[in-house]
Amino acid sequence: MTNTEITSGLGEIDRSGGRVSVDEKRMINCRADVNQLLPLKYHWAWEKYLAGCNNHWMPTEVSMQADIALWKSPTGLTEDERRAVKRNLGFFAASESLVANNIVLAVYRNLTNPECRQYLLRQAFEEAVHTHTFQYIVESLGLDEGELFNMYREVPSITDKAAWALAYTQHLEDPDFRTGTPETDQAFLRDLIAFYVVFEGMWFYTGFAQILSLGRRNKMVGIAEQYQYILRDESIHLNFGIDAINQIKIENPHLWSPEFQAEVRSMLAEACELEVAYGRDTMPRGLLGLNADLCEQYMHFITNRRCAQIGLAPVFAETENPFPWMSEMMDLKKEKNFFETRVIEYQSGGALDWD
Ligand SMILES: [Fe+2]
Ligand SMILES: [Fe+2]
Repeated sequence: MTNTEITSGLGEIDRSGGRVSVDEKRMINCRADVNQLLPLKYHWAWEKYLAGCNNHWMPTEVSMQADIALWKSPTGLTEDERRAVKRNLGFFAASESLVANNIVLAVYRNLTNPECRQYLLRQAFEEAVHTHTFQYIVESLGLDEGELFNMYREVPSITDKAAWALAYTQHLEDPDFRTGTPETDQAFLRDLIAFYVVFEGMWFYTGFAQILSLGRRNKMVGIAEQYQYILRDESIHLNFGIDAINQIKIENPHLWSPEFQAEVRSMLAEACELEVAYGRDTMPRGLLGLNADLCEQYMHFITNRRCAQIGLAPVFAETENPFPWMSEMMDLKKEKNFFETRVIEYQSGGALDWD
């Protein structure tokens, strides 16, 4: 290729340029044509695209009858359970949109590789399916839609998380933002870490544990089943993000300086604190085998695991996973029809390393 510009894919067609070879492909700052999917360089990205397609589901296929009956029954759930469920739904309802907007408006433009973009397009659709899930739950249970969809603005423990993440994406949305200098490349890496490792990889997990814990006790089984499918999708989103971050590190080792690594470790420690505060706010007295202390331990375990996945030393002292049952919840093949509400079966996407 004769191109010297970083290509977005929408520039002038280079009629005299050569065909792209694998060696020219790059995660960021690629100067080769990004409209040529083949030859593939990053097979891990293509495999995640296929796995996402194999996991296709729609929230409307899950029956909500048992949930509706339990929610409407005055004695169906305790006040603490209702508070946890509502805050949980409120957190996810807006978070799915924040994640989708980050993919489409900040990540897509700066990730200059067609197989990664193919995965991002699939992921963006899955985030739309997840947002649809919360619309469907609100409609089924007759919840106050304004209350739920505004919690990210009105409930401080949720606002604090959304505001923390938005700080990493706001300037990337600026039309003048370009990668290509160490500073802007690191800004892009920070955004990937904030959204893939923290938002999708840490902050969703207290919420998953709360709802799946209810489901295990036969409460809100429709929502619990939908959360199982979301968790299965999110585990691929997280693993894509980790592979993308690690590949950018390999191609740009100067970005992963000791100072930057220290900064990322403190980002993860800070994010963990915000999640622990959210756990205390949603479960002030504990419920159904869960309490804020166990969630704190779980979050320390998850934070250390995320550090290891991107090649960082652990932030917290080594700790056991207090919720080993969460990994069983992930394996939908084995746990097929666990809640017995599913009406349609899709092909399962195979074994996933989710934690
Ligand atoms: Fe999602
Ligand atoms: Fe996601």
